Amino acid sequence: MASSVFRSLVTPLRRGGRRQFSSGRKTVTLIPGDGIGPEISAAVQKIFSAAGVPIDWESVDVTPVRGPDGMFGIPQSAIDSVNKNQIGLKGPLMTPVGKGHRSLNLALRKEFNLYANVRPCRSIDGYETLYKDVDLVTIRENTEGEYSGIEHEIVPGVVQSIKLITEPASMRVAEFAFNYAKANGRSKVTAVHKANIMRLSDGTFLNCCRLVAERNPDIKFEERYLDTVCLNMVQDPSQYDVLVMPNLYGDILSDLCAGLIGGLGVTPSGNVGINGAIFESVHGTAPDIAGLDLANPTALLLSAVMMLRHMELNSFGDRIETACLDVIREGRHRTGDLGGSAKCSEFTDAICEKL
Ligand code: IPM
Ligand code: MG
Repeated sequence: MASSVFRSLVTPLRRGGRRQFSSGRKTVTLIPGDGIGPEISAAVQKIFSAAGVPIDWESVDVTPVRGPDGMFGIPQSAIDSVNKNQIGLKGPLMTPVGKGHRSLNLALRKEFNLYANVRPCRSIDGYETLYKDVDLVTIRENTEGEYSGIEHEIVPGVVQSIKLITEPASMRVAEFAFNYAKANGRSKVTAVHKANIMRLSDGTFLNCCRLVAERNPDIKFEERYLDTVCLNMVQDPSQYDVLVMPNLYGDILSDLCAGLIGGLGVTPSGNVGINGAIFESVHGTAPDIAGLDLANPTALLLSAVMMLRHMELNSFGDRIETACLDVIREGRHRTGDLGGSAKCSEFTDAICEKL
């Protein structure tokens, strides 16, 4: 199976005229992350070496440091690295529980204005789930909505959380969705919303999608309520293709879709902005198995494959994806989460052998 998880994101970025990946070796910022992050990152690096991918890794630590203003933030060296390379791969990050810590994952999206989150969900050959032939992509607005972080207490016991929706952010993610559909040979975009209830906020989002749809008559467009999509999705996912939606809906629906194909351990993700992109595994840090060589590196590896296509290194991406999916399909070297007993290193080596 040589099918692409993420064929190309070339078109959306070319439109901005800011692409800068040319021939020769490229440097990618690597954020190994916490828990199982370092082992699955090492697995990806090993597989990339085996495939002879012409990239060099620049590993950075994003553990928050206290700045001159007394506030904790991402270290400047990590910010500089992503700004310079404009491309990053990130393992899972732990967010300390307790007051005053915002999620680091969110901080990264905000810092680099990574406005579109892309999660392709495609059934993995030979790995049975309740659903067959799932092949859809969720595209999530990644910078605002309920994730704006604007919350306050009005009087004790009464709090307010602002869902911020703006036309520019809605337009750019709608445009991204249609460009993605075109670049990847997809035929339909579904806008997912609750504009019947949130008339102004979701209404704005939906209107932007309609506007962009009008300019793209070659792509079929439909609008659906979020609850209806959830209902239909678990009954028959094949009716959907590319779905675009506000931030929180995308967070929830992308997990639901990942569940159709085997979970977050096998689902890739990419956060794309105008001046950079960070690809990531979206599963947790799994501290219970950290350091035990038991983790499944598939989600990070397939995210890295998306990254290669984004960098126009498609042939490497295709070979690595095929090798990974072949090893899973053959079933001899699956990790525990996929019902096997292989160690992370054995799974990794099996992929390397195919390369
Ligand atoms: C995701 C995650 C993040 C989110 C967490 C880790 C902050 O669930 O990427 O989907 O809520 O967006
Ligand atoms: Mg999520």
